[in-house]
Amino acid sequence: MRTICIMNHKGGVGKTTTAINLAAGLSRNDKKVLLLDLDPQGNIDLSLKVDAEKNIYDAMTGEATISSCIVNVAKNFDVISSTESLTKAEHYLYKHDDSRLLLKQLLSMIDGYDYLIIDCPPSLGILNQNVLAFCQEVFVPTSADFLGFDALKKMEKVIETINETYGHNIKMTRVIPTLYDKRNRICKDTLKDINEQFNGLASNPIRVNSKLKEAPKKGKSIFKYARSSSGAKDYGQLVEDVIQMEPRAAI
Ligand SMILES: Nc1ncnc2c1ncn2[C@@H]1O[C@H](COP(=O)(O)OP(=O)(O)OP(=O)(O)O)[C@@H](O)[C@H]1O
Ligand SMILES: [Mg+2]
Repeated sequence: MRTICIMNHKGGVGKTTTAINLAAGLSRNDKKVLLLDLDPQGNIDLSLKVDAEKNIYDAMTGEATISSCIVNVAKNFDVISSTESLTKAEHYLYKHDDSRLLLKQLLSMIDGYDYLIIDCPPSLGILNQNVLAFCQEVFVPTSADFLGFDALKKMEKVIETINETYGHNIKMTRVIPTLYDKRNRICKDTLKDINEQFNGLASNPIRVNSKLKEAPKKGKSIFKYARSSSGAKDYGQLVEDVIQMEPRAAI
């Protein structure tokens, strides 16, 4: 099973959009996928109209087993939701030193999927540290602008620190340039910088596309909502790229 977290401490860079459409696209390519929402904003529940009874916070507090939180949303596509109560989990983990790796232990129980994709909150808090200490790969959606590139460089350092602290070996295997508009000079410059400084890690850029904004309101992935949109093309290309990486990834 490939374990991939979608993370960037910078907000609004397309993490959730990427997590949903990558997971949906992989499942449509016969990969069995579990998408886990770790963001207290609970955007995945809303964007896919999941309406789960139990969520990841219930599993963390022992109110539910992790398997009882899984909801099937489409063929090959399962989801574990989150709610705002997850903000309390951060406090709990901070207070109880012996629970620091609680999430890691829970996630280790997940089995039977080709992909576990985790949508992370925009923070560098304990939840995200737990996730980095568990996953094999991190994908970093990066807005194609100056501040986005700065956040990417910070993420690279954070990953290094986590690996040293936890004796882990998570790798940044993709940088995903998002909100790309080729009419903007800054977008083109940032893409060039990413390609130069993160050699071989950049995926195809995801262009700005209003269909990607509309799809969550309909509770659909971009492939169901607007199959011929540029958003569907770009995320489709990302899905192909991720599948092609499989032989190099530890499955
Ligand atoms: N390529 C795109 N084109 C147009 N709008 C986009 C694109 N990608 C994301 N968006 C929109 O930008 C907003 C932020 O995207 P998203 O929620 O995926 O970011 P995020 O990084 O998960 O945010 P947060 O840090 O709050 O979790 C949303 O309204 C989303 O619909
Ligand atoms: Mg998000």
